[in-house]
Formats: sequence, C-alpha cells, structure tokens
Amino acid sequence: MKTNVSERRMRAARQEVYTDTDRFARELSGIFDHEWVMIARAGAVREAGDFLAARVGRRPVFIIRQKDGSIKAFANFCLHRYTKLVTGCGSAKRIVCPYHSWTYDLSGSLIGVTERDGFADLDTTGLGLEELACEIWLGFVFVSRRHDLDPVASRLQPLADHISHYGLSDYDDRYTFNEEIWDGNWKLVFENFVECYHVTHAHKGSIGPSNPTELAELGPRDNPHFSVHYNPYGSEFLPEIHNQALDAQEQKRLHVIGVYPNMLLAIDPNFVWWMMLEPEAIDRTNARWGLSFSPHAMQGMSDPDAYAESIRKLIKIATEEDKGIVARVQEGSTFGTEEPGFLHASLETYVREFRLYLDRML
Ligand code: FES
Ligand SMILES: [Fe+2]
Repeated sequence: MKTNVSERRMRAARQEVYTDTDRFARELSGIFDHEWVMIARAGAVREAGDFLAARVGRRPVFIIRQKDGSIKAFANFCLHRYTKLVTGCGSAKRIVCPYHSWTYDLSGSLIGVTERDGFADLDTTGLGLEELACEIWLGFVFVSRRHDLDPVASRLQPLADHISHYGLSDYDDRYTFNEEIWDGNWKLVFENFVECYHVTHAHKGSIGPSNPTELAELGPRDNPHFSVHYNPYGSEFLPEIHNQALDAQEQKRLHVIGVYPNMLLAIDPNFVWWMMLEPEAIDRTNARWGLSFSPHAMQGMSDPDAYAESIRKLIKIATEEDKGIVARVQEGSTFGTEEPGFLHASLETYVREFRLYLDRML
C-alpha cells in the first residue's frame, strides 16, 4: 500500500486517553448517551417474549420481541426500587421483578403491583418502563437514549450501498458470545479492529497468512459514521464462493468495518464476524460478538456444520490474539508518558478518523 507523503508523521493518541477516568466518564455521557449503539443481532430475540439484556455505554438496557414482531428496547430497571429486571437472554410472557414481583407486560407497561393496598395513592395508569429508540439495520439491533437522531438506515446508507450484495439481513446467526471481557479500554478494541497494520504481525496463528497486511487496501475516507478497509485473501487462500451476487472483488475480500462508536464487522464472502462493545471500566470492555453465515454459503458447502465450526475455531484464535494485544497496549499505556506514539499514514488512517470522531463528540 502506498503512503501519501502529505499524511506522513501522524501521531497516536496520548496514553492518558486510555487511562484517564474523567475522560472515560465524558465518553460515556458525551458519546454513548447521544448515539445509536449496536446491541446484538435481531436473531437473538426471534419469538415474542424473547429478550436480551445489554448495556448502552454502562446503562443497563434490554431488548424484547413484541407480539407484532417488532423489537422494543427499555431501560433495565424496575420502577419500584430500581432492581435490574432481566439478565442474559431468555423468554418471558411478562417481566416480573425478582425483588417484590412488580410485573410488566412485553410492551413495558406496569400491570401488577403486589400488596397493592400499601400504595393507596399510586395510579399505575400509563406507568411503564422507560422506552429507548430501537431500530434494526441489516439484521443488527441499534438502541439509543435519544429519540431525535437520524434513523440508522439513513446515516448508514452509504455503507449499506457498499455491502448490499451480501444480504446480511438474512444471515444465519450460528454463534453468539454474549459476555467476553477484554482487559483493555473500549477504544483500543475498536482501533485494533479498524487498522490493517497488525494483521500479518499479530495474527500469525490465524488470519495473518491468509489476509496479509501487504494486500490491504483502504476504502471510503472521511465518513462521519463509519470506516471500511479491505483485507484481500492471498491467491492460495481464496474461499469457496456460493453467493453469486458478489462481484469479483467481494469474492476475495474481507471487508473490515467500524461503525462509530461500538460496532465492528468483518465481512467474508461466506460469513460476517460482528462485535459490539460495552465499556465496563477504563480498562475493561465486554465484547458481545458472533459469527453469522450467508444462507448461500450454507446451502453450497458439502458439510455446512463442519465449515461453520472450522470458521468458529479460526476466528476464536484471531479473537484471542487480538485480546492479548489489547491487554498489552492497555498495560503499556499505564506508564503515563506525555509523548504520543505514531500512526502509519495509510494502514492506520482509520485509527485517526476514529479519533476525529471522538473529538467531534466530546
Ligand atoms: S424493586 Fe422491583 S418490585 Fe421492588
Ligand atoms: Fe486483529
């Protein structure tokens, strides 16, 4: 990949960006409270009553499938004395608080108060859980505390155009890992995903040989909401293709996408490796991630289960490699030098674009 001379000598963020707890608090309030945040694949809540607990920033929320097929998102606390209502994922006909059994229907309305006489003047008409904005885009569920943001679909239209051939809405969500703690700041996980410099060096045991850094290409530049780059497969590693809608470049590329602030996608011709980030602490991030497979690929493979399992093993190794690196960057950053590091002018250009996004939001 050629480097534009005018882009030389870009500097990395200073270490304190990953260790300063005041800044972390500002990121939660300034970014996660004002953005669409990706929560999960819609396939996580297929039937009416299926729910999934998640976080927007650090605020507990849950999504739940409605009887009409839509998905709603709510603040995950009881109106009585704030108990978190649901954990993990599951299915319910109604939501019953584990503390004193106040009860809510699937649309969040308060429908039951135990020992009702003790709340004589409480009028429950119209009382319900705080509803959040919720939209589905290409099979991914986005939630926001704000109800006045542009729809996800219009913000991400240029990205949807770019990946329209894959048919991500219909992918088969085979593997989901809901809780996976990374020992690093959430921004390090994001930045690691959107730069192609490390692939050859940090992924020797997984995708380094098949998608080497030297083949990497940049995608569209300066979009306010996302970045895309490509990690093509080396000629001896080209995947089997069963989705005939893909063009020649898509057939041999891994699209690597970051949607600000917390969504990461690596789109292979046959599957998507997706990840959403929940910042838990300055140096701790929950990554909910999964692998969803193209129905074309699954129909075409002679043994789809074995194929999916081989991909799961490969991506699990790649994820462990990335986790190890992120933990080491976090630890190195605790030294506290004032002197910023460096960024490769092209291979790390999206790290810089992400930083510009952060600066705009804060
Ligand atoms: S806190 Fe939920 S019923 Fe008391
Ligand atoms: Fe990586």
